[in-house]
Amino acid sequence: MAVLISLLLALSSVFFTGPAFAATYLEGLLPNGNFEESPKPTDLKKTVIKGKYSLPKWEINGSVEYIAGGPQPGGMYFAVAHGIHAVRLGNEASISQTIPVKPGSLYALTFGASRTCAQDEVLRVSVPPQTGDLPLQTLYDSFGGDVYAWGFRATSNEAKVTFHNPGVQEDPACGPLLDAVAIKELFPPMPTRDNLVKNSGFEEGPHLLINSSTGVLLPPKQEDLTSPLPGWIIESLKAVKFVDKKHFNVPFGLAAVELLAGRESAIAQVLRTVPNKLYNLTFSIGDGKNGCHGDMMIEAFAAKDSFKAPFKSRGKGEFKTVSFKFKAIAARTRLTFFSSFYHTRIDDFGSLCGPVLDQVRVLSIRKP
Ligand SMILES: *[C@@H]1O[C@H](CO)[C@@H](O)[C@H](O)[C@H]1NC(C)=O
Ligand SMILES: *[C@@H]1O[C@H](CO)[C@@H](O)[C@H](O)[C@H]1NC(C)=O
Ligand SMILES: *[C@@H]1O[C@H](CO)[C@@H](O)[C@H](O)[C@H]1NC(C)=O
Repeated sequence: MAVLISLLLALSSVFFTGPAFAATYLEGLLPNGNFEESPKPTDLKKTVIKGKYSLPKWEINGSVEYIAGGPQPGGMYFAVAHGIHAVRLGNEASISQTIPVKPGSLYALTFGASRTCAQDEVLRVSVPPQTGDLPLQTLYDSFGGDVYAWGFRATSNEAKVTFHNPGVQEDPACGPLLDAVAIKELFPPMPTRDNLVKNSGFEEGPHLLINSSTGVLLPPKQEDLTSPLPGWIIESLKAVKFVDKKHFNVPFGLAAVELLAGRESAIAQVLRTVPNKLYNLTFSIGDGKNGCHGDMMIEAFAAKDSFKAPFKSRGKGEFKTVSFKFKAIAARTRLTFFSSFYHTRIDDFGSLCGPVLDQVRVLSIRKP
C-alpha cells in the first residue's frame, strides 16, 4: 500500500476542475521516468546494469545499459534530449514498471526514443493485453530528440508498462535508447451539436515532456479506441506530430497536428452520417512557424469526395480556413487528411515538417 501511495504521489496527480469530472487523474513522469536515479556503481559492469531490480523503480530483463548522453567509448554519440541519463535496450532486452491506473480509462504514454545503430530497430511497447511496435528507422528530428506517444486502455487497476527490444542484431548491445517516460490520462471528447468531429481542435492529446520543443510523434497504425490522440486514427506508414502552442504556431487553442511525412502520414476519423445528406467540412491549414516553408497542400477525403487545400507557407505561423461540401453515402463516413508534399525545415534538412491541421468541423447543410 505504501508503495502504491508513493507511486501515486510520484505520478503527480492533478485536480481536474472541468464540469464533468471531479476526480484526480494521472499526468507526469513515471517514477524514475527520466532515469536520473542511477543504479548503484556496484550494480554496473561498465554500462551494463547487473540484476533485475538494480535500476531504481524499474524491473529489467536482458542486457540493459545505463547511458549518459554525449560521446561514448567506441566512438558513438548518443543524444539524450531529456535530462542526462537514458537506458539502452540490447537484443531482446526489456524494462518494465507497474503503475496504478483506473480500469476502463484511456491513457497515453509519452517517451523519448531513438535508434542507436541499426536502421531497422523497433521498440515494442506493451501494457497487456495491448502491444505495439514502433519502427524507429525514420528520424523525424535530426537532433535525436524524437518523442513518441502510445495509447492504451486500462483493463484493471494496475498496468504493467514494458518497453522491449524485439530485435536481434549482430552487436548484442545495439538497440533503442529510451530517455524519458511519462503518462497522461485522456478524456475522449464527444461530438457536439455543432460539430460531428470528436476532438476537432486536437486539444486532447498526450503529455508533453518538460522542455521538449519537438512536439510528440503519434506513431502509425493507431486505432481510434486506444489512440493517444482521442477520436483520431493514425492510419499511415509514418507518424503524425502533435504540436503545442508553446513551441509551434497553432491556429486555434493549445494544440494542433503537423502532417510531416507527406502521403505517408495520414490521420482519419469515422463520423456518424446520414446517407445522401450534404455536409460542410471546414478546417484550417497553416504552418507551425518552425522553419517549414514553401507550397503546401492538405488533401481531404470524405465519402466519394476529395478536396485539395493549398497553402503557401512563409514560415510565419500563418493559416487559412477552407470549407468544402461532401455527400454522405453511408451511416459512417471516414474523413481522412494527408499532406500532398514532403517538406524539411529550411534550417535543417534532416528534420521533417509539413502543414499544420487544426479546427476540423463537419456540419450537415440544412436545405433552404
Ligand atoms: C526475459 O527475457 C527472456 C528472453 O527474451 C524471456 O524468455 C523471458 O520470458 C523474460 N522474462 C520475463 C520475466 O519477462
Ligand atoms: C527546463 O529548462 C529550464 C530553462 O532552460 C531549466 O531551468 C529547467 O531546469 C529545465 N527543466 C528540466 C526538467 O529539464
Ligand atoms: C460551411 O461553413 C463555413 C464556416 O462556418 C461557412 O463559411 C460556409 O458558408 C459553409 N458553407 C455551406 C455551403 O454551408
